[in-house]
Amino acid sequence: MTSARIIGTGSYLPERVVTNHELEQLVETSDSWIRERTGIRERRLVGDDQSCGDLGRIAAQRALEAAGCRGEEVDLIVVATCTPDRIFPSTASALQHSLGLRPGGAAFDVSAACSGFIYALSVADRFIRTGGASRALVVGAETMSRIIDWEDRGTCVLFGDGAGAVVLEAGEQPGVLSTHLHSDGRHEPLLYVPWGPGQGYAALESQGGYIRMRGNEVFKVAVNTLTRIVEDTLASAGVDKSQVDWLVPHQANIRIIQATAKKLDLAMDRVVVTVGEHGNTSAASIPIALDTAVRDGRIQRGELLMLEAFGGGFTWGSALVRY
Ligand code: COA
Repeated sequence: MTSARIIGTGSYLPERVVTNHELEQLVETSDSWIRERTGIRERRLVGDDQSCGDLGRIAAQRALEAAGCRGEEVDLIVVATCTPDRIFPSTASALQHSLGLRPGGAAFDVSAACSGFIYALSVADRFIRTGGASRALVVGAETMSRIIDWEDRGTCVLFGDGAGAVVLEAGEQPGVLSTHLHSDGRHEPLLYVPWGPGQGYAALESQGGYIRMRGNEVFKVAVNTLTRIVEDTLASAGVDKSQVDWLVPHQANIRIIQATAKKLDLAMDRVVVTVGEHGNTSAASIPIALDTAVRDGRIQRGELLMLEAFGGGFTWGSALVRY
């Protein structure tokens, strides 16, 4: 049976580092509060001359290099982002061209907030398993700093910019074993951006285009939902939690990550944690964490990975992957 195997990973964090101490100059907060409540030490911010697509392109180039794969061999690109450069063409179409991917292949963006990468991976996996693509680039890229109200201490300390990518290849060896996607739109008021172009530009003035969040309530739902989906994923795959080698979670908050790891009985040294270095990069966070642990040699070929994410919508999802 054909499966989609990860043959290369890449990531990119923009150069500008913003420490918690710098944020103390902007809003009433402290380095110790941010570290204790979130685990975040610093985040990266996109340069004035950079866009979301630029971050995604560098991450994707690194993934292609790691895969030893030429652009024209890729016949599908899916980009997960909630901060695209343009309304259209999609960020994926722009990257298809700038990366020299096969013209005429499929290219589209997926919007599922912080769960976007899992959604994009799931879609690409289904394309590959059903013969719709032979090699796919799955990218998570975000410029969250551009939709943050830098006067709102409840959100501005949490987010950052970055991108990550994986190359998937069709083959007989096991790769993505299963993916699980969910959404429940009833929770929209807890985490959302009030404006989008469908409302017309007059509404931008009154609504504002920045993230709004009731953090405490999001936290509780996130912990409950993620522990449930991790259990459901294992049960549906017939896998015992002791068989999971690595948890590669969405990097929103160290306390949410710790709660999920506890549910899996996984020691924290089997959990990939990068949130301290870049904050919540939304759809980019899982491929950044994955690439970090692949490149530093923690994640080895043949190991079993549990990927999971939770975000605005609410959306949530997981993927069980044989690396
Ligand atoms: N610095 C200092 N104090 C802050 C602060 C900041 N940056 N942000 C909020 N506070 C204050 C609050 O105003 C509140 O003060 P009060 O008690 O005087 O009203 C106090 O800290 C506690 O606020 P609360 O919201 O209950 O804190 P918390 O322990 O829940 O931590 C978050 C806040 C945002 C860190 C936490 O709720 C969280 O991480 N939620 C999930 C957010 C998330 O990951 N969203 C994305 C999901 S993909």
